[in-house]
Amino acid sequence: MDRYLEEVITGTTGINVHYYREGIMRRRVKRRMSFNKIDSQKEYAEFLKENDEEIEELLKTLTIGVTEFFRYRPYYDNLEEILKERFSGEKIKIWSAGCSTGEEPYSLAILLDKIGFEYEILATDIDKSKLDFARKGVYSPDKVDMLDNEIISKYFEPKESFFKIKEDYKKKIEFMQHDIISDGIIGSFDVISCRNTVKFFTKKITETVFINFHMSLNKNGVLGLGIAESLPKKLEGNLFRSLKKKDALFEKI
Ligand SMILES: C[S@@+](CC[C@H](N)C(=O)[O-])C[C@H]1O[C@@H](n2cnc3c(N)ncnc32)[C@H](O)[C@@H]1O
Repeated sequence: MDRYLEEVITGTTGINVHYYREGIMRRRVKRRMSFNKIDSQKEYAEFLKENDEEIEELLKTLTIGVTEFFRYRPYYDNLEEILKERFSGEKIKIWSAGCSTGEEPYSLAILLDKIGFEYEILATDIDKSKLDFARKGVYSPDKVDMLDNEIISKYFEPKESFFKIKEDYKKKIEFMQHDIISDGIIGSFDVISCRNTVKFFTKKITETVFINFHMSLNKNGVLGLGIAESLPKKLEGNLFRSLKKKDALFEKI
């Protein structure tokens, strides 16, 4: 990608494209250029500098936030088992990093409530517009229709033709803008759930992010990743250990 365009992207969206896998970033920028019928990268850079709406759209495209409630159900079943084994009664502090529009932190809240644990959740994302959506906690019927009716009636209330997370559960989640690459450590946690986010980062950046996660976890802490993600080889058995037969779940060493 043209150096000038890279600098404009960083200056306008806050995303440093060098921290992400190159092919992915190139394809996503190209998609916005074709949408706007612009062929030249220099021209797109100028367009971006003068167009706030395009900055928003590009940021959305670069940080695609596909997510769903209880995404990959076995993750939540395994996490439930691990939490019951490791913790007993104390308040669990969870960091949902790369939380997108909130489905992951709300699923974690539902899980913790269901197993009767006290909890507080910090949910972060780099993209402010996704966080604004998440804070409202209002979802369309197609987003909740994979949930059991019992869950819907206990944790959601109808809002026109939508479903809103009930205030009692919403208030235990704090949403905050945070870049896991450059904003560093923001507390100490028993669980960090960072799913389907680091797979877009370069290997070197992923290592740095996991070192920060290691420092952010309490003793006995658990790290959960997306099913297609793994720890950098260098860190496995060194900073983290895979939890037996538990896909994508690791413990701090
Ligand atoms: C594919 S979504 C994953 C959502 C959810 N964790 C899940 O697994 O369903 C990836 C999220 O990571 C966020 N993201 C990308 N780069 C980030 C960064 N450097 N710091 C924090 N969040 C980031 C994106 O904005 C997006 O919402």
